[in-house]
Amino acid sequence: MPYDFESPVNRRNTNSVKWDVKPNELPLSIADMDFRTAPEIVSAIQTRAETGIFGYEEVPQAYFEAVANWYRDQHDWQPKTDWMLFATGVVPTISSAVRRLSQIGDNVLIQSPVYNIFYNSILNNGRHVLSSDLVYTDGTYTVDWADLETKMADPLTSLMIFCNPHNPTGHIWETTELERIGALATKYHVVVIADEIHGDVTDTGYQYVPFASVNDVNAQNSVTCVSPSKTFNVAAMHVATVIVPNPELRAIVNRGLNTDELAEPNPFAVPASVAAYTLGAQWVTELRQVITAHKQQLTAFMAANLPQVHVITGHATYLMWLDVSAVTTDAAALTAFLREKTGLIVADGNAYGPNGKLFIRISVACPTAELTDGLNRLKQGIDAYHD
Ligand SMILES: Cc1ncc(COP(=O)(O)O)c(C=O)c1O
Repeated sequence: MPYDFESPVNRRNTNSVKWDVKPNELPLSIADMDFRTAPEIVSAIQTRAETGIFGYEEVPQAYFEAVANWYRDQHDWQPKTDWMLFATGVVPTISSAVRRLSQIGDNVLIQSPVYNIFYNSILNNGRHVLSSDLVYTDGTYTVDWADLETKMADPLTSLMIFCNPHNPTGHIWETTELERIGALATKYHVVVIADEIHGDVTDTGYQYVPFASVNDVNAQNSVTCVSPSKTFNVAAMHVATVIVPNPELRAIVNRGLNTDELAEPNPFAVPASVAAYTLGAQWVTELRQVITAHKQQLTAFMAANLPQVHVITGHATYLMWLDVSAVTTDAAALTAFLREKTGLIVADGNAYGPNGKLFIRISVACPTAELTDGLNRLKQGIDAYHD
């Protein structure tokens, strides 16, 4: 493995949101990996910095070609560069699209438990959150299709924010599920925003399927958001690509991105992204091997040391969703206790919706020694916890 995913990276006192914690605390909470990004990206940024010129920039065609070729090579999908828009992040794009593609008071559909910031994008813009909750049975999640259809059919439901693959469960949607969601959305005139920010990071041997790649019905009724930020750990680069095959929809989204001033890159966004998409494939292959091994490490640790915790086996993302219902009646109390008692910071499942109440989310995207430390703290904390 030529790339280094094992050397410790000291991120304390670096203005890191994740690592702005007490000296004894270990944050395995937010989706921000404790790996240095690919050296090819660092080198592209250094080259750009050395020009000493940081004036206003436009996004070159080479950027969109790099994105298109990445999706062709990595995900067997060939989006046209004409379909693409540059944006300064996935969440800003979602919020902007919510304002453009729905009216105040409309329902925006989600599938809870889901990425907490979706709620902000909906509620902060005066829309209603309408969740077709994923159904949790025997340790796995499925869609309640009748419920989803009823909620799509509500005349006030104009938009769905679809997390593909799904954060926090790590679920990779089957092609048949994508077709079914796409068909229902089109039938009931619900536009789908497909947030595919986690699509590149799947376990070795697994692939996610882009929502719009499935068929023309899905393509014509969707706004897909992708970004190198999770894949390459470059979130503060503030870069995303919005892929909208339908020209009318694209014009509306484009208007929103421009009105909201989200369409201009910082000087490092383009070189970093082009380096990621043209030179980063091997780094991602190795990253996925490391993540896969870490998920196996966590699963084996739980089986041996904390069998009362059920691990949800999603095959995407570097985040693991753990059922702690045998340990606590509220994950908020457990996570607060873990932090106080052991310094381990994990995400409280309540953030992802009411049906996350008995779950915690933990990142395995860190050097092995850090993960091992985290798992030992988790055991120490759960052993000491009394509900
Ligand atoms: C599903 C999902 N979408 C979007 C984001 C953040 O996107 P951005 O930083 O580009 O706004 C995250 C970050 O964790 C995420 O998990």
